[in-house]
Amino acid sequence: MALVRVASTKDVPENSMKTFPVQGRKILLVNLAGEFHAVGAICTHQGWDLSWGALATRQKQVLCGGHGAVYDIETGEGVKLGRKQAAVPVYRTEVHGEDIMIDLNRINPRRQTLSGKVTQEL
Ligand code: FES
Repeated sequence: MALVRVASTKDVPENSMKTFPVQGRKILLVNLAGEFHAVGAICTHQGWDLSWGALATRQKQVLCGGHGAVYDIETGEGVKLGRKQAAVPVYRTEVHGEDIMIDLNRINPRRQTLSGKVTQEL
């Protein structure tokens, strides 16, 4: 699969995160000490943008500002919120010069919530 450019490395300072629109999806880029990660930016609970939340750099987790769901940035798995949230998509990331590129084919499997809802791609 071809890689698509999401942003410049200058757009996401070290230990921060930001959402970018990419071909109809919202992608959350996370810069952990110079290492870039890309996950779906939409919380699988009620759809808040994860960039409105907080980044726990040491744990490699992002906290949704909506109702406190926590996602592992490397696996996309929901790790907290009373009941476990379905995972957000995780995308392979490469840096070419100053360009952050991702493969839009998610690398983690789709999961279903207890209600049978499939993980969102947006
Ligand atoms: S919308 Fe993210 S925890 Fe509710």
